[in-house]
Amino acid sequence: MTTRVRMRHILPLLLLAAVLVMSPGCPVSSANTGVFHCYLTWQGDTGTTMTVNYHTTSTDVPSQVFYDTVPRNGVVEEYAFSATGASHELLGLSQESSDAARAIHVVELTSLTPGQTYYFIAGDATAGYTSEKMFRTIPDSGAVRFITGGDMGTDFAVGQLLRQAAGQSPMAALIGGDVAYANADFGNWKDWDRWLDLWEDNMVTPEGHTVPIILAIGNHETTAGFFQFLFPKLAAPFYFGYFAQEGRAYFVRELGPHARVFALDTSHVTSMTGAQQRFLDQELAATPAGVHTFALYHVPMYPSHRAFGGLSMSMLVRNAWLSTFDAHGLTAAFENHDHMLKRTKRLRNNAPHPDGTLYLGDGCFGKTPRSGEQARALEDPAELARLGLTESYLANWASTRHFWMVDVAADGSGVEFTAIGSNGDVVDETAL
Ligand SMILES: [Fe+2]
Repeated sequence: MTTRVRMRHILPLLLLAAVLVMSPGCPVSSANTGVFHCYLTWQGDTGTTMTVNYHTTSTDVPSQVFYDTVPRNGVVEEYAFSATGASHELLGLSQESSDAARAIHVVELTSLTPGQTYYFIAGDATAGYTSEKMFRTIPDSGAVRFITGGDMGTDFAVGQLLRQAAGQSPMAALIGGDVAYANADFGNWKDWDRWLDLWEDNMVTPEGHTVPIILAIGNHETTAGFFQFLFPKLAAPFYFGYFAQEGRAYFVRELGPHARVFALDTSHVTSMTGAQQRFLDQELAATPAGVHTFALYHVPMYPSHRAFGGLSMSMLVRNAWLSTFDAHGLTAAFENHDHMLKRTKRLRNNAPHPDGTLYLGDGCFGKTPRSGEQARALEDPAELARLGLTESYLANWASTRHFWMVDVAADGSGVEFTAIGSNGDVVDETAL
């Protein structure tokens, strides 16, 4: 099956390759200048680095960030530190329209102090500068709070949820794919601009910190959804072109001394077996005892709406990674794609276990909730028997928009998980 699906997508990908090559430093337009969009990612250490991503309508301008530990109100020469980076263009955008064309600038700040607030502006004298923004590096001691969710889109609900999420003052946002629903179609470029506007307008904490993004890939980041392994960057041009992470769709990030987050790719542009599986196994094995491990990915192993059994994507994800999660005692997995709220029992090998992994989802951070077909079916003993399950894997589920907030205790002794809805209500909670 995999081979057939792969072959079906090779030809369109080759055609795309001819026209959508990312090229550094090509001028877009000298008539229009301006800085727009500014958001944060990490390409490495979350305590000592921060990557500033910003867009300009012209590419023939330098990539610069000026920053300091005290506010400088946008006066360039007063900032104590500066860093330079590079820009690139998505040629597909230039070919779409002059309005879509832009340079994407990536500037990584390094040698930062963990747990420190920084004030910064990005840009240059020609294009102009952003307003002064703030970020905070991840501390190297103490408690850590982050939020997670996926399947967003650009509807009104997204802004509501982002405001609730920012209001919790998270140190990072883990997004589990299906973000702007642009489907890697350059004709949908405005969807990404809308999403970035929503993010930048709403994902600022009450203290003023812009929240950095850790982004896993979903099917709606790609041209065909699944199995596009040959040319990942062509299959997901916005995912790779707009968000500087590591240049691949799986990686690990430390969030303080007690938490490691694995962003993974459920077969969108990377095979779940092979190199990605080895990476996961080796990095989990190398994680010191007592450090909580979290996985962030799109397609759920334990779906609340789509099918658990048969030749489903969920079955393929379990086949690829479940034994690895179980062998290393993964703390929790953040699943998406089904547009539901769900919390599983603690599971090992598909059955409840006191030390098992918690699976939280199911990606309803803006999208209209689904009805929970699989969750309802699991209430029928005949369905459980058909699926080879002794009991339902779900502890709770609901058709409701939400995001999950995760609190790792200062001493690493425990983790609290709280699901919060559009109006700020707690819609589910648990702790380990
Ligand atoms: Fe999805």
